[in-house]
Amino acid sequence: MRLTQQVAIITGASGGIGAATARALAAEGAHVVLTARRGEVLHELTEALLAGGHEALAVAADVTDAAQVAEVVRQAQETFGHIDLLVNAAGVGILKPFLDLTEADLDQMLAVNCKGTFLMSQAVARVMAMQKRGTIINVVGVLGRAPMANSAGYAASKYAVNGLSKVLAQDLRRLGIRTTALYLGGVDSPFWDAIDMRVQRDKMLSVTDAANAVVYAATQPDALVLNELVLQPESHQLL
Ligand SMILES: NC(=O)c1ccc[n+]([C@@H]2O[C@H](COP(=O)([O-])OP(=O)(O)OC[C@H]3O[C@@H](n4cnc5c(N)ncnc54)[C@H](OP(=O)(O)O)[C@@H]3O)[C@@H](O)[C@H]2O)c1
Repeated sequence: MRLTQQVAIITGASGGIGAATARALAAEGAHVVLTARRGEVLHELTEALLAGGHEALAVAADVTDAAQVAEVVRQAQETFGHIDLLVNAAGVGILKPFLDLTEADLDQMLAVNCKGTFLMSQAVARVMAMQKRGTIINVVGVLGRAPMANSAGYAASKYAVNGLSKVLAQDLRRLGIRTTALYLGGVDSPFWDAIDMRVQRDKMLSVTDAANAVVYAATQPDALVLNELVLQPESHQLL
């Protein structure tokens, strides 16, 4: 186990990638703090992890609300004493033709994907700066670096997260905080359930593939930083 005694906050932990990541980090010995809005889903996963002998805490929160984000960080510190890893996996994807995209769609994606990543990263980075160590992994996605039809609002929000991740790497490196931007191609998760597009989910990455990429970034030796990782299905490469 490579993350024994390390404390990881995972946002979007009720979702496909976040839940798989929480399980994978716990399997490496990390103490995991699971957050998302749906508390009942978090509690179910936390109970299963605790029953398996892992350390886990569920804190329901909306990442777009600074006070709720602060409460996640407070409870993580109060329970486990420190924070070593943040995985920003909360996100919303509304993929439709540009002319059909509403202002509300755009607002939601910018709020969750961009502002949520900003708020959570800033709250956790303040703790990590005092510790002089920590790692932030942002699940950006390839649509934060490459265009795809029907993704105008989503790509706008994810290009913003891409820019944010790059600047965090610059701003936080001298504070002992490492930043990884993870560019995943399509991942077969509930993300696609409400999306009205013809996609081949059986050709996508699995949530386990995504979680393994997070673990790879999280387990780099202290003296190294994995700045970027691009992982795509062989049959659907945008980058
Ligand atoms: N699936 C893909 O093909 C793919 C590819 C590349 C990158 N990504 C990115 O990977 C991340 C995870 O995606 P996924 O595939 O796991 O999607 P998912 O299964 O739909 O999960 C999305 C997660 O985000 C959480 N969330 C949404 N709005 C939130 C809010 N306001 N506050 C807190 N949490 C919120 C959801 O939890 P609640 O509803 O309980 O709040 C859920 O846990 C996203 O950032 C997505 O953009 C996905």
